[in-house]
Amino acid sequence: NDESTVSITVVGASGDLAKKKIFPALFALYYEDCLPKHFTIFGYARSKMTDAELRNMVSKTLTCRIDKRCLTRLDFVTTILNILRENCNEKMEEFLKRCFYHSGQYDSEEHFMDLDKKLKQHEGSRVSDRLFYLSIPPNIFLDVVKCASKSASSANGWTRVIVEKPFGRDSDSSAALTRGLKQYLVEDQIFRIDHYLGKELVENLSVLRFSNLVFEPLWSRQYIRNVQLIFSEDFGTEGRGGYFDRYGIIRDIMQNHLLQILALFAMETPVSLEAEDIRNEKVKVLRSMKPLQLEDVVIGQYKSHTKGGTTYPGYTEDKTVPKDSITPTFAAAALFINNARWDGVPFLMKAGKALHTKGAEIRVQFRHVPGNLYKRSFGTDLDTATNELVIRVQPDEAIYLKINNKIPGLGMRLDRSNLNLHYAARYSKEIPDAYERLLLDAIEGERRLFIRSDELDAAWELFTPLLKELEEKRIAPELYPYGSRGPVGAHYLAAKYNVRWGDLT
Ligand code: BG6
Repeated sequence: NDESTVSITVVGASGDLAKKKIFPALFALYYEDCLPKHFTIFGYARSKMTDAELRNMVSKTLTCRIDKRCLTRLDFVTTILNILRENCNEKMEEFLKRCFYHSGQYDSEEHFMDLDKKLKQHEGSRVSDRLFYLSIPPNIFLDVVKCASKSASSANGWTRVIVEKPFGRDSDSSAALTRGLKQYLVEDQIFRIDHYLGKELVENLSVLRFSNLVFEPLWSRQYIRNVQLIFSEDFGTEGRGGYFDRYGIIRDIMQNHLLQILALFAMETPVSLEAEDIRNEKVKVLRSMKPLQLEDVVIGQYKSHTKGGTTYPGYTEDKTVPKDSITPTFAAAALFINNARWDGVPFLMKAGKALHTKGAEIRVQFRHVPGNLYKRSFGTDLDTATNELVIRVQPDEAIYLKINNKIPGLGMRLDRSNLNLHYAARYSKEIPDAYERLLLDAIEGERRLFIRSDELDAAWELFTPLLKELEEKRIAPELYPYGSRGPVGAHYLAAKYNVRWGDLT
């Protein structure tokens, strides 16, 4: 709307997340002409910095996204690339001119009032909408919201606040945080980010399922044997141990990123694509699940490992981690949904740091074909003959379906081949970063990809008893070498439910 202006304040502007994700995402939106006509970006942090210094810091993180379609006619490549680069550089200049800095303490109402004055100067007589991105540790969320609320209320358009996990450490601390935020904000103003919901293939899950007749009728216990949600990183905590040690992999990845994917995957058909309809269905799935049981969980922690002459440090060798830490850097778990669609189907989650590879996948293993005519071609290992749908969330986004196929030739030999939708080959446009989609949605007031407070409560209820038990009993994680496939216990857990983990491709 031409009559309004949006001010985006990044609180914690000199932090890692702001530099790596938020400013680049805002620029990408600007480059794609997705930001409103009138907007201003303010960085807010404690360190002293001028506008020019902020711009210099931000400029180092911006990149140009060049559409690969331009690369199809090789003879034009150089010229076109140059034009695009020039255009992008111009856009960067324009964007940076709209970025400003305000230095202030996080618990000072006065400093936020000073910010308010600056915001007002930029807003002029237009309707003023304000978005605050709290890119700061959660223990200061409340201070900031309290101090900023007075100035925020002087805006005459909407005010929204984006917060990012960790939202507490368990049900009680999360509920306390929600109560605290709600002293100053109403639920509709709080945008809780789970950046996995902004990933292209996670957003595509519902499209895949609900708009393809070949999938939706199969989406139940009748045809699906198990579902696997796998997250793997090939690096350790590396300096982030201070944060990580307080949370561990279950809180860092499973309770949010993987559980959100599970809820989207398993929900019933929503009444519509409206945010409330989708979130209602997700809450129903979460509330149909049993809290995790200790016997359905395996935890691990990476230890040092030497490979090719290089020694990779173990988790407790990270200087920011206590030497006797038993915080898990790996976990595998089996979860069950107690409803008519999913009764008895294991949803297996696996998440780990310092593993052999980096990636995130959803794997759906289907049941055997009853009375399969070609059974003999597969020998005794019938599992290798079942269909599997793989959704590779990252890297190198892809969706493929493993099917049985006749190997061409006179004999009758079968193998399993992939029907493959490889994004890089099919689509020329680069995939936007998750933060771009989420920031744009927050500006547009689209809540579909943000976590509602009852969803958050339900997610914590599933994990809190287990986390308490692990901590009270001081259960030691199984050690696994840095760069390995993780603890063997994960295989036993899967085997208990007759499942074999898919290997990240
Ligand atoms: C964050 C976790 O939420 O997600 C990190 O706190 C993790 O520990 C990161 O590394 C992974 O995100 P992505 O998008 O790089 O897969």
